[in-house]
Amino acid sequence: MSRSLRVAVLGPKGQCGSCVVDELLSRGHSVVGISRTPPQTWAKSGKYEGIPCDFNDIRGLSDILSNGNFDTVISAFAPPLVDLKSVYNVGVEGHGNIKMAILRSTFRGSFIIIGGAGSLYYKHGVQLCDDEDFCFKHWYAWPDVHLDYMSTRMFDHGQRSFGTFIRLFKWARGNRENPGWFSWLFRPFANWFLGLAKKNLTRPDTVGLILCSRAALTMWEGVQEMNWSFLSPPWQLRDKGIRTGKYEFHVDDSAGSAVQGIDKGIYNEDMAVAIVDEVENKRLIHKHWTCTGPIGLKEW
Ligand SMILES: NC(=O)c1ccc[n+]([C@@H]2O[C@H](COP(=O)([O-])OP(=O)(O)OC[C@H]3O[C@@H](n4cnc5c(N)ncnc54)[C@H](OP(=O)(O)O)[C@@H]3O)[C@@H](O)[C@H]2O)c1
Repeated sequence: MSRSLRVAVLGPKGQCGSCVVDELLSRGHSVVGISRTPPQTWAKSGKYEGIPCDFNDIRGLSDILSNGNFDTVISAFAPPLVDLKSVYNVGVEGHGNIKMAILRSTFRGSFIIIGGAGSLYYKHGVQLCDDEDFCFKHWYAWPDVHLDYMSTRMFDHGQRSFGTFIRLFKWARGNRENPGWFSWLFRPFANWFLGLAKKNLTRPDTVGLILCSRAALTMWEGVQEMNWSFLSPPWQLRDKGIRTGKYEFHVDDSAGSAVQGIDKGIYNEDMAVAIVDEVENKRLIHKHWTCTGPIGLKEW
């Protein structure tokens, strides 16, 4: 293990941030979780403290980063998904505020940002989120198991209508692609539903989270005065998985050198291993990258 580091995690209780905190603590690093209402204690043993801060308070966040004596800062920030229409604006503001706070602070360690798969490039030079019929086409390509995972996740987070939408989406796709004896009876409804799904899944406000993550990448690309590293998780990121410790990382460029992140996935637990390896080894400074690993080892 490297020497014990002091790491700030912005967004410690989110699906990505919480795995990163677990991984950091298990390797003996000390963690400060920063968000509006961060946990004050952590279930796993280790040196953890929480500092409340709303990222709209640029000066407040900047002061915490200046005075925290941090080796690394990790952003696992995401805008709340309560109102889809506002997600893009709130997300861009949040990422922008974090950038201003960190540049105005005296912190000059390494900074890792967790963004989204929509920023990864295909071989034909188009980012996933700019592909035709995004994201309907790319939901349609997901295996059943990933749609099951997504609907369960929505139910777990109290988003019952979205969870039901995903279950119907899976059923309608199955009706069309793998018809049984009586499928034709329900085909008109399946086709109607898939038409509706396409309309909704290609609307800009539906993909606000994905577009604001791409805006965050644009904000950092070319910046030289910070040692940033931008991770876009793969398209099939799943939580409550298994930590296998196995992963591959792929550095992105417009020629599609990280296209594995569009086709494959990883468990959050293994993505946290990749992130903390980067905290310790700093191999991916000024790079946009993704990581993939084994999935499908449990229910999903
Ligand atoms: N496949 C993919 O590409 C994929 C999948 C999932 C996630 N992601 C990305 O991973 C990143 C993290 O997402 P996530 O799903 O882990 O997020 P999440 O579970 O929604 O957690 C978001 C965190 O941000 C904090 N936060 C939100 N607004 C804040 C504010 N104004 N001030 C301070 N803290 C604030 C929240 O804490 P408080 O409530 O305490 O403020 C929370 O800890 C995002 O960039 C997301 O796009 C990518």
